Amino acid sequence: MQKGELLYEGKAKKVYRTDDPDTYLVEFKDDATAFNGQKKGTIRDKGELNNKISTRLFRLLEKEGIATHLVEQISDREMLVKALEIIPVEVVVRNIAAGSLAKRLGLAEGTPVARTVVEYYYKSDELGDPLINDDHIAAMNLAGASEMAAIRKTALAVNDFLRRYMDERNLILVDFKLEFGRHKGRILLGDEISPDTCRFWDKQSREKLDKDRFRRDLGGVEEAYQEIWKRLGEN
Ligand code: C5P
Repeated sequence: MQKGELLYEGKAKKVYRTDDPDTYLVEFKDDATAFNGQKKGTIRDKGELNNKISTRLFRLLEKEGIATHLVEQISDREMLVKALEIIPVEVVVRNIAAGSLAKRLGLAEGTPVARTVVEYYYKSDELGDPLINDDHIAAMNLAGASEMAAIRKTALAVNDFLRRYMDERNLILVDFKLEFGRHKGRILLGDEISPDTCRFWDKQSREKLDKDRFRRDLGGVEEAYQEIWKRLGEN
């Protein structure tokens, strides 16, 4: 598979065309940003770890009947994926109040929510990814109502599976972000699932094992990402 034109460079990934128009190549970088790009840094080996972690989780989700963009991992930092037309909506699923939900609703971090919360954010660096609802999505023609119904259902199914899977590995799945796209008339789960895009806490100590260590200068960032891979790698 030939690496072609660079299509897009994001904060943590680059996406290239390949010689197959239906397949893109994703390269995971060590660069990390937070607070809409205001904080910048690098996390050693993050690209490699997020590639491995995402590949593992996408494979497991495929086994559960959830369609993802994963084709295969082709090197330490590279993954082949189905070429998606990305829907510019970030889908956040929350089991426990943390981050922006804790702040918005005045809840103490760590408060469990009585019902799983699904939120949508409009993917726009310029606007700082504002929180939106189904009406905004329809008003801006970002996705159809049946597409959003399928996305919500899939996001909840991902949560059901991942929450259980992480629990068996002594991890609490606090919240996470998903992205979806269109491919040959189907909606597929895209992007990545990694400590960059999820909050994982150790079940006993409630130690943070995710990007919050970078966001909040807690130290031990690389070690946290390694620990997640270690717990997943042990099946
Ligand atoms: O910051 P906030 O609490 O809204 O984040 C919720 C979840 O979504 C966290 O797991 C965070 O890592 C993830 N997220 C992300 N990309 C963003 C915003 C949030 O992966 N642009």
